[in-house]
Amino acid sequence: MKRLIAHSALALCLSPLAVHAGSAHPQAERNYDTYCVQCHGVHRNGKGINAAHMSVQPRDHTDSKAMSDVPDDEMFKAIKEGGLAVNKSILMPVWGKVLSDAEIHELVAYLRETCKCGK
Ligand code: HEC
Repeated sequence: MKRLIAHSALALCLSPLAVHAGSAHPQAERNYDTYCVQCHGVHRNGKGINAAHMSVQPRDHTDSKAMSDVPDDEMFKAIKEGGLAVNKSILMPVWGKVLSDAEIHELVAYLRETCKCGK
């Protein structure tokens, strides 16, 4: 039984890679699957495993309307310096010490692809 549980947990971990294969920004996609899905969700819809317990809900990155209101430079700043830096929730963490500027720029491009909203 234990082994069965371990196997399905592994399958769950790997499935986002399979579901989202084919992005033009594969490195950003991998970073998202590593660092962002806990809150923003494997389907990028803001329904990550932590979301149920959070007072401010993570952004739904598939919401083209809401995402098109956020310019690239604000998105970059929110990711690099955290939610507080753009007058948003502190629950959006600071990633500038984990990800390089180049990686964050690629994440912004990846999020544009995900929301299907240009800016
Ligand atoms: C601990 C949970 C958590 C993690 C992990 C997380 N976020 Fe967030 N994120 C949030 C929350 C909560 C918000 C909504 C903040 C608000 O609306 O006040 C948010 C908002 C955002 C926004 C919208 C900012 C804006 O100006 O509207 C972007 C872009 C974003 N996150 C990108 C990312 C990326 C990229 C990662 C991974 C590198 C990530 N987030 C990881 C919780 C998280």
